[in-house]
Amino acid sequence: MIQSVRGMRDIHGEEVASWQRLERMFQEQSHAFGYTEFRTPIVEYTDLFKRGVGESSDIVGKEMYTFDDRGGDSITLRPEMTAPIVRAAIEHNLIRQRPIARIWYCGPLFRYERPQKGRYRQFHQYGAECIGSPHPEADAEIILLASETLRAAGASGVKLEINSLGTAAARTKYRDALIAFFTEHESGLSEDSQRRLATNPLRILDSKNRDDRELISKAPMLYDYLDDESTTHFETVKTLLNSAGVVFEVNPRLVRGLDYYSHTVFEFTSDTLGSQSAVCGGGRYDPLFAMLGGGDVPAVGFSIGVERLLLILEAQNEQPPTTNLDVFLCAFGDEARLPAQLIAMRLRREGLSVATDILRRSPKAQLKEADRSNARYALLLGEDELANEQITVKDMHEGSQVVVDQAHIVQHLAST
Ligand code: HAM
Repeated sequence: MIQSVRGMRDIHGEEVASWQRLERMFQEQSHAFGYTEFRTPIVEYTDLFKRGVGESSDIVGKEMYTFDDRGGDSITLRPEMTAPIVRAAIEHNLIRQRPIARIWYCGPLFRYERPQKGRYRQFHQYGAECIGSPHPEADAEIILLASETLRAAGASGVKLEINSLGTAAARTKYRDALIAFFTEHESGLSEDSQRRLATNPLRILDSKNRDDRELISKAPMLYDYLDDESTTHFETVKTLLNSAGVVFEVNPRLVRGLDYYSHTVFEFTSDTLGSQSAVCGGGRYDPLFAMLGGGDVPAVGFSIGVERLLLILEAQNEQPPTTNLDVFLCAFGDEARLPAQLIAMRLRREGLSVATDILRRSPKAQLKEADRSNARYALLLGEDELANEQITVKDMHEGSQVVVDQAHIVQHLAST
């Protein structure tokens, strides 16, 4: 038997209702903040991610689904959405048309990671990118949208951590200090971190290795290397969040795994997620437009992992919304079949969800199916009803039953 690809899941059954509820909510929250949807292709040229996300990142280094297409171009299944959005913003000149572009998206991403709870090879993100403002108000707006979305979804116990990576100049000074410190203690570092020392020393701060963590706790802190511009920016973001009532903690070791960040970075985490605790990550990425040849355009954004958000809701015992039918229409006898289809169409055009029997089952089997479908009403169309242009309405919640004229069925259902 052929199964789905490892780390990729089918979404079906009751779970679909939870996805649909979240998708509606993503739309509503984005709209409330003035963000409009953007849909990019699922594949991009590989260079976009190499240049945008960075060759030293785990994503580009070992997690991309990359292949040559039949024309010989190197194509990659998108592992994240920020680089594609920036590519599209440059391609469509969004920032020349208006000074600010507020964009949201929701869709599948692909990373060749080791699958485990909350970590898949195909997963989904809802995210937003605020393009065009260098000011802390944009950082705060993005963090507020993320936090409002998690709140509206019903996720509780989610913690927000923020940090500042400062300007490129501040980061270069800090990077040198880190390299000096870790080179002195190189033999105490894990193999992974020794490799990162040469490629991306800031990422050592992300390490979960116990010996690394011990060393990291003694390493120089980025905060001490921030210049005035960076500190002022970060302090203003904190003030804005505080005045909006957003609770957060400053985590001086939060660096994030992608190369395009500067200034504010943040993560929302939940203990219920276990080792894959981040449900949302984001930050300011002022260098990215220039990295992709789009000039000097500041921007900030976030992405929420939809599967992880659902895991949090599940752990809270959040019931998926019901998507039951309004009506199951039973046709008793050959004569009733066509009129039943016509009545079903009329009801659907009035906005009701209606299923009919298309297996030509016995009356008993149809009634059983009506019950199993959890429909609010069963409508019964038999010989008597046909002769009198009536229909029997069975209220499946109350168990009561009345006969009404077919002409009045819509009004009848609306009034009960
Ligand atoms: P990221 O931290 O790589 O950031 O991913 C954001 C979120 O996507 C994570 O917090 C997690 O919830 C979810 N996620 C990541 N990988 C997986 C996986 N393998 N399985 C399930 N969920 C996963 C970004 O992608 C940036 N583009 C965020 C951003 C937007 N920065 C600025 N704008």
